[in-house]
Amino acid sequence: MDYIPMLVFCFISFLIVRTTTPTDTINTAQFIGDGDTIVSSGGTYELGFFSPGKSKSRYLGIWYGKISVQTAVWVANRETPLNDSSGLVRLTNQGVLVLLNRSGSIIWSSNTSTPARNPVAQLLDTGNLVVKEEGDNNMENSL
Ligand SMILES: *[C@@H]1O[C@H](CO)[C@@H](O)[C@H](O)[C@H]1NC(C)=O
Ligand SMILES: *[C@@H]1O[C@H](CO)[C@@H](O)[C@H](O)[C@H]1NC(C)=O
Ligand SMILES: *[C@@H]1O[C@H](CO)[C@@H](O)[C@H](O)[C@H]1NC(C)=O
Repeated sequence: MDYIPMLVFCFISFLIVRTTTPTDTINTAQFIGDGDTIVSSGGTYELGFFSPGKSKSRYLGIWYGKISVQTAVWVANRETPLNDSSGLVRLTNQGVLVLLNRSGSIIWSSNTSTPARNPVAQLLDTGNLVVKEEGDNNMENSL
């Protein structure tokens, strides 16, 4: 038995599983680019960039994760479509979600009434996208 190839194989498998397991959360050090998505824990909803029908414009939205026909349930920038696939979503240290275009202009942003300390944004299996303090699972405390 040759153990080295086996170990290398296990390690590569581990990396692949690690990097393809969907996440439902982003923190302030992460961002969602065009082509990336976050998926709610039960797989019901997915958030990312999409183009409806034949449109070339890119929209940030939430759609059903479990049906093959992409059906948007929420669109952030309906009024201001992106012209290309350079859109980025970030969570600021203040707990505000912002959608930026290629030149870094804010195309859409969320709002918060409470200042955040260590915010994360999470897509829930109910379809809600919430900003909350990391580790605080009481939704009544969401920002
Ligand atoms: C799309 O392009 C037009 C013309 O270049 C520009 O005026 C507009 O602001 C762009 N929209 C976005 C969301 O970047
Ligand atoms: C980004 O959006 C701003 C404001 O809408 C616009 O002036 C600018 O041209 C856009 N940049 C690109 C690369 O479309
Ligand atoms: C956020 O909400 C406050 C009031 O709650 C308002 O004064 C402020 O203009 C809002 N900011 C944005 C970016 O919508």
